Amino acid sequence: MSQIPSTHRALVINADHSGWEVKEQPIPAYDDLLVKVHAIGLNPTDWKHCHYKQIPPGSSTGSDFAGVVVAARGGTQYKVGDRVAGFTRGGFLQRDNGAFAEYIAAQTPIVWAIPDGTTFEQAAAVGGIPADTAAQALYTRLDIPRPWDPARATAIKAGDPILIWSGASSVSHYAIQLAKLAGLKVYTTASPHHTHLEALGADVVLDYNGADVQESVGQKIRALSGGEIKVALDGFSHAESIELVAQALSAQGGTIVSIPDDFGTKHPNVEVVSNVVYDVLEEKHAVDRADIADWHKVLPGLLASKKVRAHSIDHQQGGLEAIPVGLLRLQEGTVSGQRIVYMISE
Ligand SMILES: NC(=O)c1ccc[n+]([C@@H]2O[C@H](COP(=O)([O-])OP(=O)(O)OC[C@H]3O[C@@H](n4cnc5c(N)ncnc54)[C@H](OP(=O)(O)O)[C@@H]3O)[C@@H](O)[C@H]2O)c1
Repeated sequence: MSQIPSTHRALVINADHSGWEVKEQPIPAYDDLLVKVHAIGLNPTDWKHCHYKQIPPGSSTGSDFAGVVVAARGGTQYKVGDRVAGFTRGGFLQRDNGAFAEYIAAQTPIVWAIPDGTTFEQAAAVGGIPADTAAQALYTRLDIPRPWDPARATAIKAGDPILIWSGASSVSHYAIQLAKLAGLKVYTTASPHHTHLEALGADVVLDYNGADVQESVGQKIRALSGGEIKVALDGFSHAESIELVAQALSAQGGTIVSIPDDFGTKHPNVEVVSNVVYDVLEEKHAVDRADIADWHKVLPGLLASKKVRAHSIDHQQGGLEAIPVGLLRLQEGTVSGQRIVYMISE
C-alpha cells in the first residue's frame, strides 16, 4: 500500500469568499475509496460555489478528479493502484473533501476505471460532471436507449430526433455522442467555429446566433426537422435558450431537460425537467444513482474503443495555486469548446 500522509494540500474558500487559498489540512475521512489526485478538470459549478457563497469559508472545493486509489474499504471492486476518475461536490457532503486537493475521498458508484490509453488529463476532462450529466439527462430523464441494456423498451428509440442546444459546451459534447450511440438523429447549435460537431455525431448544426427577421433559430430547427422533435437537452439552460428550444419542438410539445434551472415555459405542451448531477452522490436518488453506476461500467470500454471521445483540453500548469486563474476565466465566460485541466501530481 502507498504511504498515506496524515495531511495534504487542498484549495479552500478564503475568509470573505473573494477567492481561494491553498491550505495544509488533514486527509479527509473515507468510507469507501481514498484517491491520490493526479489531474482535475474545472466546471462552472466550481466558481459558483464560492461566488454565490454556497459553502462556508474554509471549505474544500472542486468536483472532477482523476487519480490512483491509495486505500479501499468495504465491498468496493476497486483496489489500491487502480486508476479511477469521478467527481464529488467539493465542500458540501464533507467540508474538508474536494477535488482540488492532493487526496480525495470518493464513492465507488461515482467513479469509473480509467482504461489503458486514456491519460489522467483526458479522464479529468471527461469527468465526472460533464459526461455524467449527459448520461443522467439522456438515460434517466429522457429514457433513450442505454448501451448497457440495448434490449430495454425505451420512450425514445433509434431514429427519433433530439435537440442538444449549445453543442460545444462540456455537457453537450458528451450528450451528442451518447445520442448518436443510441441511433438518434441529432440537431445541435453552436458558434460557427466549432467545425468538429458533425464528426462527433451531430446530423444538423446551426449557429445559435443565427436568427433573422423571419425566424428564430428555434423556429428554423422546427422547420428543418419537419416538426418532429419531442425531446431536447438545453446545455446552456438560460431563460432565453429554453424559449428557443421550446420553439424547436413539435407542435404537440415535448420535454426539455434543463441543467439545472427550471425557468418554465409559456408553451403549454412543453415540460421542462430539471437535472442535477449532484443528486447521484446521495443514496436517496436511487434511480439516478443506479443508471450512473451502470454507465460507469460501460464508459471505460466506450473510451477505449473511441466510441466516446474526451473534450478538447486546455492544459494548464501551476497546480493547485494556479486553479483560481482558470476559475476566473470560466466565470468570465471566455472558455469556448474546451475543458481547463490542471495536473496536481505526476
Ligand atoms: N445541473 C447540473 O447537473 C449541471 C451539470 C453540469 C453543468 N451545469 C451547468 O450547465 C451550464 C453548462 O456547463 P458546461 O460545463 O457544459 O459549460 P461550458 O463547457 O463552460 O460551456 C461553454 C459553452 O457555452 C456556450 N455558450 C455561451 N453563450 C451561449 C449562448 N448564449 N447560447 C448557447 N450557448 C452558449 C459556448 O458555446 P460556443 O463556444 O458555441 O459559443 C461555450 O462553448 C453551466 O451553467 C453549468 O453550471 C449543470
